[in-house]
Amino acid sequence: MAASPTERTSMTVPRFLAAKQDGRRLVVLTAYDALWASLFDEAGVDALLVGDTVSMVVQGNETTLPVTLDEMIYHAKMVVRGTRHALVIVDMPFMSFQVGPEQAIANAGRILKESGASAVKLEGGEHQAETIRALSRADIPVMAHVGMKPQSIRMLGGMSRIQRDEDQLLTDALAAQQAGAFAVVLELIPQTIATAITAELEIPTIGIGAGVGCDGQVLVNQDMLGLGNGFNPKFLKRFANLRPLVLEAVAQYADEVRAGSFPDDEHSHD
Ligand code: KIV
Repeated sequence: MAASPTERTSMTVPRFLAAKQDGRRLVVLTAYDALWASLFDEAGVDALLVGDTVSMVVQGNETTLPVTLDEMIYHAKMVVRGTRHALVIVDMPFMSFQVGPEQAIANAGRILKESGASAVKLEGGEHQAETIRALSRADIPVMAHVGMKPQSIRMLGGMSRIQRDEDQLLTDALAAQQAGAFAVVLELIPQTIATAITAELEIPTIGIGAGVGCDGQVLVNQDMLGLGNGFNPKFLKRFANLRPLVLEAVAQYADEVRAGSFPDDEHSHD
């Protein structure tokens, strides 16, 4: 059961880190607007990720690449407005940090200043260590993201490739930690490897398609609520099936409008 709002303290980066030491598993969910953020916050999640998946699940693009920095800030502002307790983390979109540390500091700084979020996430480990270090030194908390990196889709040739190079994955995760990341997302990697990485790291690992051995889990909210259409990877569990409910409600509304039975007297003013 979710803690009542008065019992809950706000999540901060130090508390997020401490959860690992205390053996508390972390619950992370994506959010892109104030309404859903407020629901997930009330339900007791530890962190809300304004993921660049917004590009796909909200904007209707085929990849995460098109979403812009300004659009991420726009969504992050809404999520922050709807959130009272959860830590709000914002994805740095494609090409907002890859140019180098200076670009990354300027853009991550904009995200924190303009949205009020607490941290950024960026895709990369070893190759982004310099940038993670620069951001951390600028007091910008960074969550790293290793394993399958959706922003690398043009290099990978597809989005659902399980990453199995254990040495490289561990090197990436350790490099992110050494550079100052406060957490690391592990996406689409075998659970044995994710469990081994989690044991090596002092910072929390947050898995998606990486098994139960991680320190926490993240899912895209539309996927776990069953709102999506056709996305069905092995790791995805649907905790609700909202799509048919929405379709049914809208079909009934349409029928009643067309039949002239809505609005009836009960829903009309005299
Ligand atoms: O953009 C996103 O939603 C993510 C999660 C899938 C981890 O990066």
